Amino acid sequence: MPYRLRTAAIALAALLTLPAAAQTADDPVAGRALFDNTMAETGRTFSANCSGCHSVQSRRAMLSGNNDPLAALAFDDAFGALVVAITGGVDAMAQFNNVLTLQQVRDLSAYIADTPRTSATALDFSASAVNTPSAAQNVDLRHAVAVDETLTVVSVAISGSGAARFTRSSDTCDTQTLAAGASCRVSLGFSSPDTAGHTASLDFTLRQGASSTTFTRSVALNGVASGTTPPPPPAGGSDDGGGALGLGWLAALGAAVAGLSRRRRG
Ligand code: HEC
Repeated sequence: MPYRLRTAAIALAALLTLPAAAQTADDPVAGRALFDNTMAETGRTFSANCSGCHSVQSRRAMLSGNNDPLAALAFDDAFGALVVAITGGVDAMAQFNNVLTLQQVRDLSAYIADTPRTSATALDFSASAVNTPSAAQNVDLRHAVAVDETLTVVSVAISGSGAARFTRSSDTCDTQTLAAGASCRVSLGFSSPDTAGHTASLDFTLRQGASSTTFTRSVALNGVASGTTPPPPPAGGSDDGGGALGLGWLAALGAAVAGLSRRRRG
C-alpha cells in the first residue's frame, strides 16, 4: 500500500462519525453538491465551501501527477489525499475534521475521481492454440457521472507492435457521444500464428464538451497462444470466421481433447 494510503487509513480513525453499516454507495453527484455548496449541504458554517478555495479541476490536476484535470483517477487516491488533507495535512482544511461524515468524504472523493474511465487498464488474452481465436473480452468506457458536458469518442484504435494480433469484434464506442454516466463497449479477441507473447494498446481518443482538445484512455493488451496443434473443426459445424466461440465449438473441442488423451493412454 502506498505510504499516502497507509497514512490515510490510520488518519481515518479520527474521522469516523458514521457506522460502516449505514454507508450507501459512493455518489459523485452528492459529492458535487457537497463540493460546490458545502455549507448549505451540511448545515454547518465553514470559512468557505470547497469550491471557494479551489476548483475540482485543480484537485484532479494535482492528483493526476502531471497537471491533467481529465486524467483517469482512482477513488482510493482521491480518498487518501482528501483524508490526509483534512486530518492534518492542510491547515485550511482542518475545519472539516470530525464534522464531515465518512460518507460525505467518500462522496467528495467519488466526485474528485469522477473522470471518464475504462473498466480495465490491462487485459490478458490466451488462445488455446496458434491461429485459434481466444475468447472475446470486453472493455467498457464510461463517461464521468457528475458532469454537464458530453464525451465524444473521436476514435478507437489498436496500436503497438502486436496490434495485428488483436481484433475488435464489436464496438459501440467509435465516433459516439456519451451523456453523463453513459457507457459504450468494445469487444476484443486475440489470435496469433506463433506462440510468442504479443502486446498492443487499445486507445480511446476523447474530447469533452465543446473543447477541441483531445485526451486518451488506453488499455494494455497482452496475448499469447499456446503451442498445441489446432483441433480439427467440429463435424458439421459452421465456421463464420467471426472469432466468437460458440458452445457447439467448445463442446467439440472438449470431445477432441478427451479423445486425444484416451488414445494416448491406450
Ligand atoms: C479555506 C480554503 C479551503 C477549503 C474551504 C478547502 N480546501 Fe482543500 N485545500 C486547501 C489548501 C490550501 C490545500 C493545499 C494546497 C493545494 O493543494 O492547493 C488544499 C488541498 C486539498 C486537496 C489535496 C490534498 C493533497 O493531496 O495535497 C484536496 C483533495 C482538497 N483540498 C479537497 C477539498 C475538499 C473536498 C474541500 C471541501 C470539503 C476542501 N478541499 C476545502 C484549501 C481549502
